[in-house]
Amino acid sequence: MSQLYGVEGRHPGWPAKLGPLRVPAGVVVVRPVRLRDGGEWSRTRLRDREHLEEWEPSGTGTWAERNSVWSWPPQWSALRSLARRGQCLPFTITVDGRFAGQITVGNVIRASLRSAWVGYWVSTSAVRGGVATAAVALVVDHAFGVSGLHRIEATVRPENTASVRVLTKAGFRQEGLLQRYLDVAGDWRDHLLFGLTAEEAGPGLTARLIAAGLADYE
Ligand SMILES: CC(C)(COP(=O)(O)OP(=O)(O)OC[C@H]1O[C@@H](n2cnc3c(N)ncnc32)[C@H](O)[C@@H]1OP(=O)(O)O)[C@@H](O)C(=O)NCCC(=O)NCCS
Repeated sequence: MSQLYGVEGRHPGWPAKLGPLRVPAGVVVVRPVRLRDGGEWSRTRLRDREHLEEWEPSGTGTWAERNSVWSWPPQWSALRSLARRGQCLPFTITVDGRFAGQITVGNVIRASLRSAWVGYWVSTSAVRGGVATAAVALVVDHAFGVSGLHRIEATVRPENTASVRVLTKAGFRQEGLLQRYLDVAGDWRDHLLFGLTAEEAGPGLTARLIAAGLADYE
């Protein structure tokens, strides 16, 4: 059988620590999710419900249940086993060494497709300072580089102006509208599809951000 998915212990690009990259909000580093992220993860997400819930896939149980400190270990464990199988690169975003959100490269398919999606969220304590854009640039460069992928896509609700801006600033191209695509905040929501191939990334998204004066090496 062709190697559609990665193989245990042979996942190029995992684990990895990416950055540091300086942006207006502080110094961004992207590193693998950890079991001990649970406290900050839960505190942040319980506080930021209004900021996050509108844009995230619906889940079972209440927001408080889904984001309690007890719900992190099983999520972390599931992400870690997907990462070990080469199907996902689940990262925590830190700003100045503090927990600031998550960015995940998911549904990694290899063989002739070599494609994945990217998804992210940033804490209200760190938004509007270039953090998500820097994290996307670091992760996409890594995915096209060491991880050997060829295409990354992202889907976003048209109303999510901040996230559309992140993808546009990072260099993604809008490809179309997926109607009633994903169950988000309790209903089937249209999503814009954005894509980027390794050829389009050229010298890299991080290098482009730096050239545009939006980030700098620390
Ligand atoms: C979307 C999100 C990740 C952006 O994170 P961030 O670190 O603030 O992103 P950046 O600072 O790199 O860029 C955000 C851009 O959107 C703009 N922006 C932010 N909020 C905005 C709003 N409400 N309306 C219009 N523009 C907005 C910012 O000004 C910035 O653009 P600029 O650099 O041209 O000024 C963050 O707001 C978030 O986590 N939202 C909730 C979860 C979510 O939407 N995840 C993505 C799902 S597809």
